[in-house]
Amino acid sequence: MAAEKNTHAAPTAKDMKDIVALCKRRGFIFAASDIYGGLNGFWDYGPLGVELKNNLRDRWWRDMVVTPPIGPDGQPIEIVGLDSAIIQNPKCWEASGHVGGFNDPMVDCKESKKRYRADHLIVLSPNDGQGPWLAFDKEASADEIAQRLKKHARGRPESDYTRGQLDKTPVADFPKIIGPDAKEPGTLTEPRQFNMMFHSYAGAAAGEENKVYLRPETCAGIFLNFKNVLDSSRVRVPFGIAQIGKAFRNEVTPRNFIFRSREFEQMELEWFCHQDDVPMWFDFWVEQRKKFWESVGLPLNHLHFYDTPKADLAHYSARTIDFEYQFPFSGDGFDELEGIAHRGNFDLTQHQEFSKAKLEYMDPTDNTKRYLPHVIEPSAGLSRGVLALLCEAYTPDPNRPSGVYLNFTPAMAPKKAAILPLTAKEEHAAPATNLYLELREDFAVDLDIKQNIGKRYARQDEIGTPFCFTIDDQTNADQTVTVRERNTMAQERISLDKVHEYLRVKMKA
Ligand code: GAP
Repeated sequence: MAAEKNTHAAPTAKDMKDIVALCKRRGFIFAASDIYGGLNGFWDYGPLGVELKNNLRDRWWRDMVVTPPIGPDGQPIEIVGLDSAIIQNPKCWEASGHVGGFNDPMVDCKESKKRYRADHLIVLSPNDGQGPWLAFDKEASADEIAQRLKKHARGRPESDYTRGQLDKTPVADFPKIIGPDAKEPGTLTEPRQFNMMFHSYAGAAAGEENKVYLRPETCAGIFLNFKNVLDSSRVRVPFGIAQIGKAFRNEVTPRNFIFRSREFEQMELEWFCHQDDVPMWFDFWVEQRKKFWESVGLPLNHLHFYDTPKADLAHYSARTIDFEYQFPFSGDGFDELEGIAHRGNFDLTQHQEFSKAKLEYMDPTDNTKRYLPHVIEPSAGLSRGVLALLCEAYTPDPNRPSGVYLNFTPAMAPKKAAILPLTAKEEHAAPATNLYLELREDFAVDLDIKQNIGKRYARQDEIGTPFCFTIDDQTNADQTVTVRERNTMAQERISLDKVHEYLRVKMKA
């Protein structure tokens, strides 16, 4: 896994608590098994959340598979899709290195009974060697740190201490450390490696020989099917195979809403090319992915592009650029949304060796040339993408009754428009219903008849509907409707028979 965080000044006023509350109140995202108290690291997407997720997923699929970009030589490139099984032959995970090495360092606190990722804890050690050392979550605020220093070190300033990381701290020093939720020093255990793959047993017998794993990343199915795709379609190197689907990681500390969960979705492209062309394709994909995130509503100045230092690269990667977004919980930094990695031919080499299948590509222009292509992998989180869109769209506005609106692009908005008759009377409701029936053929639209118009606008603002069409007395007189634009709340009248075209044009924006 790539390094996940980098710090840069980037102030943000949005509060995660408010965003999570809105997501529940309006049906975007619920805790899984909510009525049983939830299940840590698992989430359900409600009626609007699934629409938002589908909009993002469908845009990625369209941009990758349906109409892939034009390549650096001016010709359209080739990408095909795949939907592989979540559970594969377990040898696949031995070959990929996940059985042996997909580990996170974990520590337990014997006092608080809490469990932490050792690489997520920072440690303050006193410069003069006097008094206890204090461990904190890496996202702890300056306030929280000051409180702990007040409690355990009579308010000594942080400048009296040196910051380090728990996973880089010698175990011999652990007895001096007070854990993040402990009162006494010496309660943190030595870090242990914890394999993050969920496992199960295929079939009735629960023995080692039937042990299987839920995939921790979607790309493996692509490598396993590399030869099948080559043999069954007309693709030639360079080309890509794309897949969207669920991945599962038994994260030690799921956190930050859907950001780090145990079940999530990825959108991954494996781009197979000749080794000599790697630098060109790497740059190409970095540019394409920037365009993508910008087009779905994330301004480039809210993203940070982090060239991962060699020492922090995943075992398969020769180079990775992380796309990081300034989430409200990122403090003065950014957190990973997507990684673009040069995986070399690590995966095909490993699978060829473990499976004994010949995976080499034969150059069609010279059949004496056989090689294992190199891979550039843009690997994006669909769930994290949804979270980034929600955080970006969340716009507090004290001047409107809802106090907030969601500033989705029209294409990402779960509902494209709402049709609101001014009253529930037949003369308003009937033309509103007719307009709704016409628009629903092509757009996800709402017909909302009940409650006063202000409350209905407020609801649409809160779910991010970009346009509201209001039917009133004048509609029957001159066949016009009012359009209210979400962000500006500006209203204009347009002809009833122009509404469909109006919306069609706006959807392209
Ligand atoms: N195939 C490469 C790969 O899986 P990764 O950096 O481990 O690389 C890619 O994951 C993306 O998947 C991340 O950038 C992130 O968006 C998403 N992701 C990873 N772990 C996640 C988790 N626990 N919860 C939600 N999204 C996650």
